[in-house]
Amino acid sequence: MSVQDQLVFGPAGGRALRGRLRAPGDKSVSHRALLIAARAEGRSRIRGLSNGEDVRHTLEAVAALGAVVERSGGEIVVDGGAERLHEPDAVLDVGNSGTGIRLLAGYVAGLDGLTVLQGDASIARRPMDRVAVPLRAMGATVDGRRGGSLPPLAVRGGNLRAIEYHLPVASAQVKSAVLLAGLAADGATCVVEPVATRAHTEEMLVAAGVDVLVARDGAGARVTLRPGPLQAGPIDVPADPSQAAFWAVAACITPGSDLVLEDVYVGHGRAGFIEVLARMGARVSLDNRDPVRHTADIRVQHSHLKGTDVGGDEVPSLIDEVPVLAVAAAMAEGTTTFSDAAELRVKETDRIATTVQMLRALGVQAEAATDGLSVLGLAGAPLRAGVTDSSGDHRIAMASAVAALMASGDVTVRGWQATATSYPGFSEDRHKCLQ
Ligand code: S3P
Repeated sequence: MSVQDQLVFGPAGGRALRGRLRAPGDKSVSHRALLIAARAEGRSRIRGLSNGEDVRHTLEAVAALGAVVERSGGEIVVDGGAERLHEPDAVLDVGNSGTGIRLLAGYVAGLDGLTVLQGDASIARRPMDRVAVPLRAMGATVDGRRGGSLPPLAVRGGNLRAIEYHLPVASAQVKSAVLLAGLAADGATCVVEPVATRAHTEEMLVAAGVDVLVARDGAGARVTLRPGPLQAGPIDVPADPSQAAFWAVAACITPGSDLVLEDVYVGHGRAGFIEVLARMGARVSLDNRDPVRHTADIRVQHSHLKGTDVGGDEVPSLIDEVPVLAVAAAMAEGTTTFSDAAELRVKETDRIATTVQMLRALGVQAEAATDGLSVLGLAGAPLRAGVTDSSGDHRIAMASAVAALMASGDVTVRGWQATATSYPGFSEDRHKCLQ
């Protein structure tokens, strides 16, 4: 991080978040759009792709694997096909993206040849055994540091067996890696998840003509995929709920706010933060629902929030929103607890530690627990001005910028550059809707 890599955010100071905003294209959908389009026979037009660095790395990866990727106006056109894909000439760099490396590991397990996947210093610390174990069971050779549990990963693929895999952790990335490998397996691959996680891979593969059956079973699900050709087609990427969540919390905590977040994906496994905010007393409503695209416009108004307990089966549906929900908790009346969220420890940073550090830097009492954190709300009283540090984590940087709205003075966010991975235009959007 350079000395200049910091941004100073002033408080709202009587201004409020108003009008309409479209958050960037959903990151999870964008990664999958590129992978699916690269394997689909023919040309796929992708509209609204995430403009963050994470997705750019996946775009470069599918190009290195043989797909032809072009920009046309605001759209990305991918000319793909199973026969086009081949062993890459060089190491694939996923940057900061855990989704990129895990999905690609499954994807290239279906290709003949060797693919080496590497990323930045944060990626080098992230657990990969969770994908290595099922991919080996399917017949791929997966190696990496510490016996294949840390990147770089070397995957030698081809000749995969179909398996039934029971996920030991609720992870959409692992489910997706196995399903993407399953596209090249010798029969029906089945993934059983204890708690159903985001369903983009299943939804998008079905849209591409693949036979995928989802049987919900209590809180969990059983997903069965039969390999078959993928058809190219238009992919319209909705706005990212995990990015919209920053503005939803910003509007909740800033007096006078009334903001509409347009065209947000609110489908399975992504809308948990809306329920939590509603439980905290937020004035939040969904309009213009599109049941096919699983989208809606989310209207959020300033609200008096109260603490709540977040945990159990709802956690996977809001895991990425915890840092910003913790900011909402800091402005609420009473205590908010987050539990059953040990997965936060293995995200871009240890988000239990970095969220607690961020809140404490702004004068909030927050305590880390093994599997979560607790936050004592200030009941609308201002946060302290101060300095926070993203530690290289985009969501900690953006949560700090939201918290700054309600601080008594400037908040300096060190390591702001981390936001380029998912939301390069964040500070411009903050400026745009703060009126
Ligand atoms: C993602 C799944 C989640 C999430 C990540 C994106 C995905 O991770 O935290 O930001 O696109 O599949 P896990 O599947 O590891 O829980």
